Amino acid sequence: MKWLLALVYLILFVQYGIGWTSQCSDPHPLWPQIHREYEKRPISDPYCKAGIIPFCPTGLPSNSMPKVGDSDLLYVYAMKAPVWEFKFGDLLKKFNIMHDAIGFHHVPTGLNMTMEWYELFQLFNCTFPHERKVEQDLMWCNQGAACIYMGIDEKHWKENGTLVKVGEINGTIFNQFAMWTELDNNTFPFYETWTVKESRQGVTWFDPFDCASWVLRAFSKLHEYGATFNTSVHLNYTKAVLYSDQPMCIGNATTVYQNVTIINSLKKFYSYFQGSQNLAEVLLHLLEYLPYFLMYNNFYLYYNDEYWHLPLKYPYIEITYDEVPLPS
Ligand SMILES: *[C@@H]1O[C@H](CO)[C@@H](O)[C@H](O)[C@H]1NC(C)=O
Ligand SMILES: *[C@@H]1O[C@H](CO)[C@@H](O)[C@H](O)[C@H]1NC(C)=O
Ligand SMILES: *[C@@H]1O[C@H](CO)[C@@H](O)[C@H](O)[C@H]1NC(C)=O
Ligand SMILES: *[C@@H]1O[C@H](CO)[C@@H](O)[C@H](O)[C@H]1NC(C)=O
Ligand SMILES: *[C@@H]1O[C@H](CO)[C@@H](O)[C@H](O)[C@H]1NC(C)=O
Ligand SMILES: *[C@@H]1O[C@H](CO)[C@@H](O)[C@H](O)[C@H]1NC(C)=O
Ligand SMILES: *[C@@H]1O[C@H](CO)[C@@H](O)[C@H](O)[C@H]1NC(C)=O
Ligand SMILES: *[C@@H]1O[C@H](CO)[C@@H](O)[C@H](O)[C@H]1NC(C)=O
Ligand SMILES: *[C@@H]1O[C@H](CO)[C@@H](O)[C@H](O)[C@H]1NC(C)=O
Repeated sequence: MKWLLALVYLILFVQYGIGWTSQCSDPHPLWPQIHREYEKRPISDPYCKAGIIPFCPTGLPSNSMPKVGDSDLLYVYAMKAPVWEFKFGDLLKKFNIMHDAIGFHHVPTGLNMTMEWYELFQLFNCTFPHERKVEQDLMWCNQGAACIYMGIDEKHWKENGTLVKVGEINGTIFNQFAMWTELDNNTFPFYETWTVKESRQGVTWFDPFDCASWVLRAFSKLHEYGATFNTSVHLNYTKAVLYSDQPMCIGNATTVYQNVTIINSLKKFYSYFQGSQNLAEVLLHLLEYLPYFLMYNNFYLYYNDEYWHLPLKYPYIEITYDEVPLPS
């Protein structure tokens, strides 16, 4: 029996990559759904273009994480700033909509480095697709990635946010972490905005995959490599939560087009979320969408290249800002 399971696992592993198999037609899917790992990051469609600000303008080239001496001392910082601060100042802080990042200070040279994981084409594009009239399709521009640049913009993080030292590590740990950063960046290319839950205390159907998820993954990797954190530091993280009864998979990026009813429902739903430039504005205008949620009680989520129907229920949607302890 064991070898049979091993064989099945091996076949699935070879076919789909590590840890993910489609559960779209499975009547008993596993919850929360595993975020899909890919063999490599796909080249994004030329249709997807960054407006307003390009992704990572001052970043280091891809896959060129700096290496340091094994016994060098580094300080690790947790950093937060309100989303879209450059446009809205501290407004979104009042709604607890914060962006997360990590900073490193290399003690021997005094050099600083900022690391953040965010959307290639901004948050709105990672949350809703574009309905293209000519191609008659739904186009997603939903990649997210790690951006690494030298320096820590103290004013940016401190003035309306947080910049706090969470620990000290040596170069051995940093160098392992640097390798992980590249691997993670190359194999987890897609951003996911939403957390989907049954109720406040109930089952989690889907976890997000955003800047905060990256910071949490990064802290847990650093811990795995031997970092010890100052657990007196308390850090809360923003989540956009949808409340729903058990989600139902309705097809993947290709199969939804084979059923006119399904593709038309998807297009109708996403037509409510066209044209607006960013999610911050959507959240600010959430009241306008609430009647829609209340009337139809439904939402379509795109996760791991598959579409899920969410039968929404009270309280429908919420921004939470809860603590996640540092690993210990
Ligand atoms: C979202 O993607 C569209 C299509 O590529 C692009 O035109 C638009 O500028 C993007 N939005 C932002 C805020 O980058
Ligand atoms: C992660 O991937 C993006 C998109 O390809 C790239 O721009 C960025 O430089 C990469 N980051 C690292 C740390 O290699
Ligand atoms: C912090 O918020 C205030 C008030 O909205 C704004 O004037 C200021 O520019 C923000 N700071 C930064 C560094 O953006
Ligand atoms: C590095 O960051 C720390 C913490 O923000 C700051 O005290 C220091 O002045 C920075 N050093 C450089 C060279 O920017
Ligand atoms: C770095 O720290 C880790 C964890 O404490 C330890 O196992 C390792 O030996 C250290 N490396 C050096 C070069 O001191
Ligand atoms: C740990 O964090 C607490 C709370 O921020 C701070 O008061 C304390 O000085 C920190 N300890 C160390 C060793 O940095
Ligand atoms: C969608 O599902 C079909 C049938 O299960 C499968 O053949 C196809 O490879 C899947 N497409 C994607 C983009 O995952
Ligand atoms: C298309 O999808 C709808 C809704 O899920 C379903 O009721 C219908 O049977 C499907 N039609 C075909 C031809 O599969
Ligand atoms: C941070 O989270 C804790 C527990 O999750 C909560 O009690 C606290 O009010 C939160 N802080 C803020 C500023 O929301």
